[in-house]
Amino acid sequence: MVSVVDGPSAEESFRRWSDRVLDHAVCENAEQAMKTIAVVNQKGGCGKTTSAVNLSVAFARTGQRVLLVDLDPQGHATMGMGFNPDAFEQTVYDGLVDRTVPLSRVVVATEVNGLNLLPSNVGLAGAEIHLHNALGKELILGEWLRTESSRYDMCLIDCPPSLGLLMLNALVASTEVIIPVQVHFYAFEGLKRLLETIRLLKARFHPCSARTLGLLLTFVEDRPRYTRKIQLQLHELFGDLVFNTVIHKTVRLVEAPDAGHSIFTFAPDSKAAREYMQLAEEVQARLRESEPVFVGT
Ligand SMILES: Nc1ncnc2c1ncn2[C@@H]1O[C@H](COP(=O)(O)OP(=O)(O)OP(=O)(O)O)[C@@H](O)[C@H]1O
Ligand SMILES: [Mg+2]
Repeated sequence: MVSVVDGPSAEESFRRWSDRVLDHAVCENAEQAMKTIAVVNQKGGCGKTTSAVNLSVAFARTGQRVLLVDLDPQGHATMGMGFNPDAFEQTVYDGLVDRTVPLSRVVVATEVNGLNLLPSNVGLAGAEIHLHNALGKELILGEWLRTESSRYDMCLIDCPPSLGLLMLNALVASTEVIIPVQVHFYAFEGLKRLLETIRLLKARFHPCSARTLGLLLTFVEDRPRYTRKIQLQLHELFGDLVFNTVIHKTVRLVEAPDAGHSIFTFAPDSKAAREYMQLAEEVQARLRESEPVFVGT
C-alpha cells in the first residue's frame, strides 16, 4: 500500500503506484497467451454486440477456450447467448465494485462448447459512479480478467456505446481492439475521436500492446451507390486497417439474438455465418501477423 504520510504528495504516490501496476500489467501482457479483444465504438447500433457474440462462438467452434465479457448494462450479449440478464445473482458489476469476488464465481458456461460468459444487466450502469473515486479505476477490469487468463485463449469484451469508464476499462484491459463501423453517412462521426482515445490510452497504459486490429465494415449493402462510396472512403482513409471481410446487412442477424442463438446455430448455412467464420480466420491471421513488441518500462 502507498503511504502518503510525510512522503510524496498523494498525486505523486498514485502515479508511482499506478506505474508499478502498469509496468507489471505490461510485462504480463507481453508474455501471457490470452488475447483480449475489445469490440468498441461509442456509436450505438453499429454491430458491436453482434460481432462480439458471433466472433466468440466462431473462435469456440475452432477449438479455442473463449470468455465473452458483456460490459454493457443493456445486457445484449447476455441475451444474445440465450440468458435472461436479470436471472443472475452476480454479474460483471460485482467483480468491478468488489475486488474480492472471484471471476470464476461470476462466469457461466454457455450452450457453446468452450465458450463462457461474464454476464451483465442494467445494474452495471451503477458501476461508473461506484468506480469514480477508486484508485486505479481504469485498471480494475484488466486486473480481474488476468486472474483467470490461463484458463482462456481468447477474451472478447462487448463494450457499451459511450466513451465512459467502462469502455476505458475495456480498452486498458485489452491487447487488441476491433472497431465495427456501420457503412453509413454517419460512419466517420466519432471515429477520429475513438482512434485518438485508443492512441492516448496505448501511450499511457500499453506501451507494447492494445493495438487496433481492424475496422470491421457492417451493414454492408452491395447495391446502393452511396454505400460503395462510403466503403471506398473508409478504405482510402484507413487502408489495410479495414478488414477484408465485411458483414452484409441481413435480417438473419436480427432474428438470431431474438431467438437467443448465435448465427451459427440459428442459420448455419447463411451468408452471415460464413462471413463471421471468415472474420474469425482473418482476426486469427492478424493476431499471428505481428505480436506486440515490448519496448521496456
Ligand atoms: N449485419 C447486420 N445486418 C442487419 N442487422 C444487423 C446487423 N448487425 C447487427 N444487426 C442488428 O442491428 C441492431 C444493432 O446491432 P448490435 O446490437 O450488434 O449493435 P451495437 O453496436 O452492439 O449496439 P449498442 O451500441 O446499442 O450496443 C441489432 O438489432 C442487431 O440484431
Ligand atoms: Mg451492443
